[in-house]
Amino acid sequence: MSRFPLFAFRHHFYNIAAVSLACCSTFAASAQQPLKTLLVGVDHRTTVSLNGDWHYLVDQPPARGLYTLDGKVRDNGYGMNTHPNISSGPHNEEYDFATAPTMKIPGDWNSQDPTLFRYEGVVWFQRDFDFQAKPGTRTFLHIGAANYKSFVWVNQKRICDHEGGFTPFDCEVTQALKPGANFVVIAVDSTRHVDQIPGIGIDWFNYGGIHRDVSLVTLPERFIDDYDVHLKHDATFSASNADTLTGYVHVEGAPAGTSVTVKVPEAGVNTTVKTDAEGRAQFEVKAKTLKLWSPETPMLYKVELASGQDTLTDDIGFRDIRVEGTRIMLNGKPIFLQGANMHAEAPYRGGRVNTDEDVKNIFGFLKDLNANFVRLCHYPHDERMERMADRQGVMIWSEIPIWQRISYEKPEVYAKAVAMLQEMIRRDRNKASVIMWSVSNETPNMPARTKFLTDLANEARHLDATRPITSALIGPHPKGNQMVQNDPLIDALDIVGQNEYVGWYEGKPEDADAMVWTLPNKPILMSEFGAEAKFGVHGEKNQRWAEEQQVNVYEHQFAMINKIPQVRGLVPWVLMDFRSPTRNIPKLQDGYNRKGLFSEKGEKKQAFFLFQKTYKDHTVGKAE
Ligand code: GCU
Repeated sequence: MSRFPLFAFRHHFYNIAAVSLACCSTFAASAQQPLKTLLVGVDHRTTVSLNGDWHYLVDQPPARGLYTLDGKVRDNGYGMNTHPNISSGPHNEEYDFATAPTMKIPGDWNSQDPTLFRYEGVVWFQRDFDFQAKPGTRTFLHIGAANYKSFVWVNQKRICDHEGGFTPFDCEVTQALKPGANFVVIAVDSTRHVDQIPGIGIDWFNYGGIHRDVSLVTLPERFIDDYDVHLKHDATFSASNADTLTGYVHVEGAPAGTSVTVKVPEAGVNTTVKTDAEGRAQFEVKAKTLKLWSPETPMLYKVELASGQDTLTDDIGFRDIRVEGTRIMLNGKPIFLQGANMHAEAPYRGGRVNTDEDVKNIFGFLKDLNANFVRLCHYPHDERMERMADRQGVMIWSEIPIWQRISYEKPEVYAKAVAMLQEMIRRDRNKASVIMWSVSNETPNMPARTKFLTDLANEARHLDATRPITSALIGPHPKGNQMVQNDPLIDALDIVGQNEYVGWYEGKPEDADAMVWTLPNKPILMSEFGAEAKFGVHGEKNQRWAEEQQVNVYEHQFAMINKIPQVRGLVPWVLMDFRSPTRNIPKLQDGYNRKGLFSEKGEKKQAFFLFQKTYKDHTVGKAE
């Protein structure tokens, strides 16, 4: 029996939007400010790509080109894109994009300009572009993600800001565009601050810049900006007669009573509904018995949405995911998740993941591993990852970057967390591969944090009542051979992620053999466990940093995990070695966290082969 509220409180979304408007203007729509939104399904729309060579200039702290001395954003800084009068002067602010170097966008600056490898601060980006707007249309600038804060100007007009390094945003530029020659200027500030999410202490590389696609999206006056099409998720679900689709379509700018058509031709669905006063059209419609999405049959249906002049066709899989007791049920059957953690770092070439090639390489690793699951840690990844997972039948844990310590006591930080949660769920709620939302990773057990994350978990349920909510909890310290997990946050979770490093951070590998765990009666994922090994370093099984030692840690871990009946998934930390500025042992780490099953060059360590066989033979853990 599902434990989620049977009907999502959709209106709640707008209440939250009001909250997020207050602090982050995630979906701002007011007279003097162009509309800022998140266009769902934008990768299924015709767009004009602005990827390519952008001029860039570094604006080192205190970044006077962007900020006033009291930290406000200037409206007359580098965003004006003026040029110095070299011959007669006086100069402009002494910058010039036209003669500045270029770098590839999308792409983090750290891996493109060696002088910026460790740079954290403001970099400006500028490019010219030709554009002819069609009458009666609206145009949005789409940015797949920019880390961490972004400030956008088009033709000297201030357009929008965005906070958050891993979710898309779309800013209306209709009024700022001119026929023919135009230019866009974006300032990105990757500086870490305690009141940001994540905070200042992270165990990954703080790649800065516009690290995902940029494009122009032209839409009719009224357009579909948000939708949710899913299999009805209630107590009546049965895999043999899954035949009801439900959800909503939101049409920006539509008055109440506007028609919206939802078609799923292969499922015999063709229904027309009307928008309410908020532009939202809810629907529930009978379909032919649906072929459900699963790892074995990753069935995707063409879903055609239309309203007025706007049409959008998405590829959506229908499946049911829920918790029953300590089991995770996919389409009514208990499942066991065999996966790995993965940062959004590109195999072989390094830097942020943002190409089809990067995603193909990562899914090649997962397939090689016989994995059916991946935890996209610790932030939303490039949308290509979810699209590939949808097609290949790989299940996903998706999370926002609340990593260990942030400012839990500050309401404005909570509003940022809600905005990031909204953006993550809004972008990916139609991706069948995403089977759970995570609100955090390894956060300190203290009252302000527990309230913050409990509220956030409940916001997630209001936004999406069809998926379990989870979080990765920090491992308890062993008391003798007792590992007691009694974090109060557990009450807010449907699935509990348990991070633990017995054999690496805690004691010796063989200590795991005697460990007795006290865990809640909920599905448990061992969401992080493992040890470091440098590819090619070999030695005894207790020689730290040797590949043999990494295998030894896992073998003892497996014996321990097999004694915990409610474990429903293995998520070793980590699929591939990744850059982290805190990992500074020369010759062993050299700035990399070496807990990967693969090296950053795609070299397979011995532990890879251990997991490949374990996953093939299903020798650790049970689905029920
Ligand atoms: C933590 C954390 C990871 C980190 C890992 C490690 O559990 O969640 O982000 O990289 O441990 O220490 O390697």
